[in-house]
Amino acid sequence: MHTASAPGKVYLFGEHAVVYGEPAIPCAVERRATVTVEERSDGRLRVDAQDLHIEGFTVEYGETGPAVDAPKAVLEAATEYVDGAIAQVRDAADAPGAGFDVTIESDIPLGAGLGSSAAVVVASIAAATSELGVELDPREVAERAYQVELNVQDGQASRADTFCSAMGGAVRVEGDDCRTIDAPDLPFVIGFDGGSGDTGKLVAGVRELREQYDFAADTVAAIGDVVREGETLLAESQGGATVDDDVLTELGQLMNFDHGLLEALGVSSRSLDDMVWTAREAGAHGAKLTGAGGGGCIVALDRSDGTETALSYEAACQEVFRAELAHEGVRLE
Ligand code: MEV
Repeated sequence: MHTASAPGKVYLFGEHAVVYGEPAIPCAVERRATVTVEERSDGRLRVDAQDLHIEGFTVEYGETGPAVDAPKAVLEAATEYVDGAIAQVRDAADAPGAGFDVTIESDIPLGAGLGSSAAVVVASIAAATSELGVELDPREVAERAYQVELNVQDGQASRADTFCSAMGGAVRVEGDDCRTIDAPDLPFVIGFDGGSGDTGKLVAGVRELREQYDFAADTVAAIGDVVREGETLLAESQGGATVDDDVLTELGQLMNFDHGLLEALGVSSRSLDDMVWTAREAGAHGAKLTGAGGGGCIVALDRSDGTETALSYEAACQEVFRAELAHEGVRLE
């Protein structure tokens, strides 16, 4: 039996635009998916996901496909992504007939912009390859996990979520160019509306707008400009050191700008906007949605208790928590 865990992430800047080759800066946060894998002799795959921040369920499936009546998004999370991860494992270990019992536990809300699917895929690949006696380095896990996301998201995915979860810390992704970067520990506050968005649909919506209107394409490009500006700021602020208030103020301003551009691209929602405004009015340096949008989480920067307290009274917000930068990416437990 082998267990691996991998962190979720927030986007400091750049979601959606990263799908079109603009840079993005996601940061891994200390909320992890933990996957335990045990090889089984009959070549079947059994996925047990009792703790995904959703009502738990168990599904057993083989050649005939899954037979369970659960919401599509939930089923996809536990089957399509894990199924894809196991296909990668069979390929990596040259073991096409390998079967597994897979148990998933996660404290990352599903489909809420915190990279739950990437973390589950990354941890599944690491745990199952170890179970077969194959050690992959985190970059190879990231590459294989990306292939899974690409497939599940109909060819529309960036490397950002999977690379960040595999490597940990802050990363910069621009097309195929993925690297870890030095970043200071930032005072992230996360607000969660209890919902989720459909990444595939949201990405497709931005693609359509971008094809229909030049100004939508310009909006995507403007997100890239915001990211480049933010990246310069981070580089100047010396990674690892405590960041000073001037830098937080400017980072926050750039996050606000990014949120406005994402809002214009139609990927925000009433509850995300409500949480963003509550955070700003409570004194956050800045706030934006994180991930695909449509519902789920916002991320704000605030060292004081103001944003946390205000979000805990905000009707649109179901849960609020602080998130530390996760310096470690995927790891065997
Ligand atoms: C989803 O977490 C982030 C998006 O940019 C899609 C992707 O990068 O694959 C919306």
